[in-house]
Amino acid sequence: MVNRKVALWLIVALVVTLGLAGCGQKTAEPATAKVLKVGAETTFPPFEFQDAKSKEYVGFDMDLIRAIGKQMGYKVEIVSMGFDGLIPALQAGNIDVIASAMTITPERAKKVNFSKPYYKSGLSIVVKKSNTAINNFKDLEGKKIAAQIGTTGAKEAKKISGAVVREFNSTADAFIELKAGGVDAVVNDLPVNQDYLKKGGDKDAKLVGEVLNAEEYGFATSLKNKELMGKIDKALQDLQKNGEYEKIYIKWFGKRTVK
Ligand code: ARG
Repeated sequence: MVNRKVALWLIVALVVTLGLAGCGQKTAEPATAKVLKVGAETTFPPFEFQDAKSKEYVGFDMDLIRAIGKQMGYKVEIVSMGFDGLIPALQAGNIDVIASAMTITPERAKKVNFSKPYYKSGLSIVVKKSNTAINNFKDLEGKKIAAQIGTTGAKEAKKISGAVVREFNSTADAFIELKAGGVDAVVNDLPVNQDYLKKGGDKDAKLVGEVLNAEEYGFATSLKNKELMGKIDKALQDLQKNGEYEKIYIKWFGKRTVK
């Protein structure tokens, strides 16, 4: 008798719990909200990085893709992964779009669909402050260079004759190696180098030489998904027209340097 009562109460409790769980899900997320899964390598400030306090992914790209998603009526979800894993993840359908300061190159364009360019960039060199031997790309010949794996910086470094190129999972690791004296230089995107120096890196490192290659960043979708890229380009254009893009640009770069 007692056992039966206990069993009955358990069933009631179970039904109530399941019911509530169901309700919770429904109110938090309407079944109709479309999700845009965005892949990024998130150690690349000021474009994509994790905020130390909130643990949120923040940066120029993150703000821009969230604004694009909102414009398209999608809920944006950021998926963090290695830079060299982004294109394979897109091809496998694990993410819908790449927003990772990715330079538009003819080689990559064979594998992904690029958006209209959304940021103008270029490569530059960082060396130790005490280094007077390296002043330009030519001086990198025969030197040890660090770069982030799979990037245009790594590719450019490999073209330099006699150079030994070491590829790191993150740009931060490349800078650590420079500081430790394991390499002579880091070749990486200029705005990211500037950000590193501004945030304390300039105590023992400096930028040298010219800015190489006019590079432009684009968002990328799978070659199969032309429709999605159409929507992204349209949203990007809307944000450029209505001043939202400008706001985000100024938030991260202070002033507009290039149009
Ligand atoms: N712009 C360079 C490239 O496309 C580097 C991008 C690295 N991005 C990142 N989020 N780590 O190769």
